[in-house]
Amino acid sequence: PVERRVTDLMGRMTLEEKVAQMCQYVGPGHIRETQKRFKGQKIAKGDDANGFYPNLSVNQLLELTEKGLVGSFLHVVTAKESNDLQKLAMKSRLQIPLLIGIDAIHGNALVSGATVYPTPIGQAASFHPELVERISREAALEVRATGAHWTFTPNIDVARDARWGRVGETFGEDPYLVTRMGVATIKGFQGKDCQGTEVALACAKHLIAGSEPSNGTNAAPMDVSERTLREVYLPPYKAAVEEANVFTLMAAHNELNGIPCHADRWMMTDIMRGEYGFNGFIVSDWMDVDRIHDLHHAAPTLKDAFYETIDAGLDMRMHGPDFLEKVVELVKEGRLSEAQIDRACSKILEAKFRLGLFENPFVCLEKTAQTLSNEEHLQSALEMAEESIVLLKNENDLLPLDFSDYKNILVTGPNANNHTILGDWTLQQPDANVVTILDGIREIAGSAKVNYYNYGDDVRQNSMDKVNEAAAIAKKSDLAIVVVGENPLRYQKSKTCGENIDRMGLDLLGTQNQLVQKIHETGVPTIVVLVGGRPLSVNWIAQNVQALVQAWEPGSLGGRALANILAGKVNPSAKLPISIPRHSGQIQMIYNHKPSQYFHKYIDGPSTPLYPFGFGLSYTRFAYSSLKLSHTRISDKDSFTASIELTNVGDREGTEVVQLYIRDIYSSATRPVKELKDFARVTLKPGEKKTVTFTVTPDKLAYWNRNMQYGVEKGEFEIMIGSSSQDKDLKKVKMEVL
Ligand code: IFM
Repeated sequence: PVERRVTDLMGRMTLEEKVAQMCQYVGPGHIRETQKRFKGQKIAKGDDANGFYPNLSVNQLLELTEKGLVGSFLHVVTAKESNDLQKLAMKSRLQIPLLIGIDAIHGNALVSGATVYPTPIGQAASFHPELVERISREAALEVRATGAHWTFTPNIDVARDARWGRVGETFGEDPYLVTRMGVATIKGFQGKDCQGTEVALACAKHLIAGSEPSNGTNAAPMDVSERTLREVYLPPYKAAVEEANVFTLMAAHNELNGIPCHADRWMMTDIMRGEYGFNGFIVSDWMDVDRIHDLHHAAPTLKDAFYETIDAGLDMRMHGPDFLEKVVELVKEGRLSEAQIDRACSKILEAKFRLGLFENPFVCLEKTAQTLSNEEHLQSALEMAEESIVLLKNENDLLPLDFSDYKNILVTGPNANNHTILGDWTLQQPDANVVTILDGIREIAGSAKVNYYNYGDDVRQNSMDKVNEAAAIAKKSDLAIVVVGENPLRYQKSKTCGENIDRMGLDLLGTQNQLVQKIHETGVPTIVVLVGGRPLSVNWIAQNVQALVQAWEPGSLGGRALANILAGKVNPSAKLPISIPRHSGQIQMIYNHKPSQYFHKYIDGPSTPLYPFGFGLSYTRFAYSSLKLSHTRISDKDSFTASIELTNVGDREGTEVVQLYIRDIYSSATRPVKELKDFARVTLKPGEKKTVTFTVTPDKLAYWNRNMQYGVEKGEFEIMIGSSSQDKDLKKVKMEVL
């Protein structure tokens, strides 16, 4: 019936009304905010306010909405504004509701009062797709409760360059992990069939390889071979489309191999629609259709850019005027066909029907209040945060802490007592909704005195006075917890990671290193906590302090989650979803590199990472033994099982992420030294033992051979199971495909 309703409606629409469905504008509230922020300032190319409709006032935009000439808005951040806009749309001739999209990247965090979950890099560290699916389902409810219907998530870019500011929005460096987490997110948001009032459209982005911009700067050109695209960057999209039926895709800012992604027919039409059977619609990124013309210089006029993008397969333009008139002209001139417009319009309307917007486009404000940050969602946010925090070092079992052993605890550092734990894609949240790290420690510290030294929020500040003052307090303390890292918040002036915030280096900025060093020099036992969205090369800290914790951006209840881990109320189980390099010069620092990568070593430092992919400590210890295969010789069509015995040999209950890696030992085209192919979270009591079994299907052995044909090659493979990607943590056995 949805298809019938779409056909019926389109039969009554004019060409102009159809093209209008393809137009997305920024919500009036967001426009006014931005105009205020940039008032009187010169707006440079690339600034947020660039393209904020110099020839279109907010009132004119509202008039267009009333006439049915706007199909979609983005970044409408209150339920009231959403209802007001829908009211206008209901005055239009055909009363077609608006589709409202928002970057609900880790919860509906651009909305004040929403549950803010850990950012995707932390979610990935949990290696727990079922939990990711649950929080995505909850986030969908919070999105719908504020009158939006569509999230621009998941970001399934495979992150291989930590200088790039958006690493925190990704699920890390491994294609398999990214795939599992991406599928879980889409299923959570879209539900079983992407239908009804409790689901939201997901959007897999960004097509494609935008995470490998040259020099690490966002939107820079990419030169990536078809082999790398198919082996590394495309698998998450294939699964997003084929397994999770993602309804929307977003193109990348960048150019790929000389073609702006927004004009890439091969990617959008041939691969996504042709090979994978994508059956939804593709939205542009912010102003990027225009940039085919004014940045990439691959179209002489804006109108040519509009032509190129629709002809290549794009369906909706985010954001800005002119599109409607010029696309109508392009059809009238015969450059674009009406069938191309129908392709786009029908899918956008289908989404609106599926989501129940024709039945009721409005949201009940009572529901908003009941849904945002409700108890259940907060509990999940806490669980996710507890499962996302990675323990990297714990010398002499400093952790877990028995707080009653300490009298004076110093808590300091730029991220100790603010909202940076919320991460990027978050707007201001009420203080009452956020448990900062200091709050979390105070909640659990019992009779220990927690002395907070306010170092200031700016991770770039260079005040040695502050360092010395903090060290003076450390001298009188019996424990120091120093919270350093990056500033990821959208509205923070000192922002150092997040969208468009790229770095040359991966060292701690400002005097953060000195802060840790001076505190450590006092002899006080020191715990360093890293907050931020990208791995940092904290070499000195890793060598010298007793305990190091990677907290990522753990969200609203991140402080409580961290405190629960420090106190041993929760035993850490997270593993790194991305390698931590020793130096930005090691980039790409990836565990799944090719065999010749380190044939020659660097002369000025090791070739290994500071901490490898898959690594993370627990307060208990796990022993791996008896790796066995069901078959050691199989045909290329057979599956087999690989099993291992896991024993908790420590003295407390814990959860281990058991990881299965595979290497194709000899191959016609070169293969990585190992690749993650499966994982399992296993919880064991002290002394408990369990056999963990993985089924290895032929697709886990297959790859794109020398002739770019996909399949399994005959020969030997190595099967590795263990607790991280580094060789010393893996048991290995060989098998053969005959
Ligand atoms: O969804 C985002 C995209 O990932 C980056 N540019 C802006 C879009 C909308 O906010």
